[in-house]
Amino acid sequence: MRAVGTVHRDYKISTIDPRLYGSFVEHLGRAVYTGIYEPDHPTADENGMRQDVIDLVRELDVPVVRYPGGNFVSAYNWEDGIGPKEDRPVRLDLAWHTSESNQVGIHEFADWAKAANTEMMLAVNLGSRGLDEARAFLEYVNHPGGSYWSDLRRKNGREEPWNVKLWCLGNEMDGPWQIGQKTAEEYGRVAFETAKAMRAFDKSIELVVCGSSSPKMPTYPAWEATVLDYTYDSVDYISLHMYFENHAGDTTAYLAQNARLDDYIETIASVIKVTKAKKRSKKDVYISFDEWNVWYHSNEADRKVLEGRDGWPHAPELLEDIYNFEDVLQVGCILNTFIRRADVVKVGCLAQLVNVIAPIMTVPGRPAWRQTTYYPYLFASRYGRGTSYQLSIDCPSYKTDFAEAVPYLDVSAVESDADGALTLFIVNRHETDAITLDVALEGFGARQVIMDKVIAGHALKAVNGPDSQAVAPADGSGIEVEGGRITGEIAPLSYRMIRLG
Ligand code: AHR
Repeated sequence: MRAVGTVHRDYKISTIDPRLYGSFVEHLGRAVYTGIYEPDHPTADENGMRQDVIDLVRELDVPVVRYPGGNFVSAYNWEDGIGPKEDRPVRLDLAWHTSESNQVGIHEFADWAKAANTEMMLAVNLGSRGLDEARAFLEYVNHPGGSYWSDLRRKNGREEPWNVKLWCLGNEMDGPWQIGQKTAEEYGRVAFETAKAMRAFDKSIELVVCGSSSPKMPTYPAWEATVLDYTYDSVDYISLHMYFENHAGDTTAYLAQNARLDDYIETIASVIKVTKAKKRSKKDVYISFDEWNVWYHSNEADRKVLEGRDGWPHAPELLEDIYNFEDVLQVGCILNTFIRRADVVKVGCLAQLVNVIAPIMTVPGRPAWRQTTYYPYLFASRYGRGTSYQLSIDCPSYKTDFAEAVPYLDVSAVESDADGALTLFIVNRHETDAITLDVALEGFGARQVIMDKVIAGHALKAVNGPDSQAVAPADGSGIEVEGGRITGEIAPLSYRMIRLG
């Protein structure tokens, strides 16, 4: 089987916004407590933050982290998380049926973000609260001083504003599970007025309005059309969320699901275009894909807590999916889709970062460890920044219930800003056959392989754990670059990253 194609210097898709490789920390399960924050942990810093987790986040080079939710934000009072820790209230978190101690709030998270070398992307509560809370929070976070909220921040120990650029106007407001769910009309109005107030404070902030919480929602994509009708000229991004599952145990269909992702992105990009034309607007709105991941392994285990049968536990194990080798391939395909759609998808958040459907896992008191999916995320984040290129590849394909022709080889190409290297990210979804890659490199000059990483040869259900890193990248071999062509065998069911310098 062969995949023959071309990557041409003149056929660029787009510059990639580095924030495409962002992530997400929600007050949910053990993401915060015993995830990023564990004062008794041997590596805890002076703020109680786990240094071993910070080190992994730095290794991943996460550009932006969305916080504090997610569903949690829709009934959150951000003021509960400021001031002396001993005075902070314990609240019942209605989203996840747990207790929230508020020992971590905006100050602690901001210090953590700085230590982890990332930027904050903050969400305001448009569920149980609204415009007034949003303007107060923004003033607290971004105003230098001389006003009620900014002086309160200074009194609480933070002199300088944090100058957070990126703000989400609520979370998944179409979802019946959301505290304060709204119709598209209701949300469109509230989002517009909140955006107006936030922009009256600072025109330069970037605002993300909620799209549907999934393309499976009955109101999709009319929701986007209505919401953008209200907010188009006031926002910069519309959010998309999508989770992937393989409950059916059908690997071939599972690994084709980024075809659905493509449709989803294309549909919303079209809604954006239509709205722009309708409004005679000169500005563009882009996509913030601020929740995506594989999420299904833990569904059954989570029921007890979510149904309230455990009362209101603080930081229980929730959404602790343990990822396998099959999920490496899935995450590789999803990231390839984002790279290929970097023209419209500017922000992306792998949901989530620590313990909760996450690439980084912790055990209290013990070292943090890397899930299988850590690696495709690591490679895309570190080597997938720069310019994405169109690839025209002729490759055998297969049919699924939802797509006519899914190519066995899923490939994206990025030329790095930092060192000019051309990186190919490749997933072979064929269960038994290797595929010969044969791609002409037009206009890239003489190149040689400077890095070749492969994740292959594992049982599909192989996982990592606190004491084993069975699924990890190895050095690849056998790739040749000669006469302006890159050629080599791509093993069945494999993830591959090849860098040409
Ligand atoms: O990431 C987990 C949850 O998934 C988020 O809280 C919510 O926004 C989505 O439904």
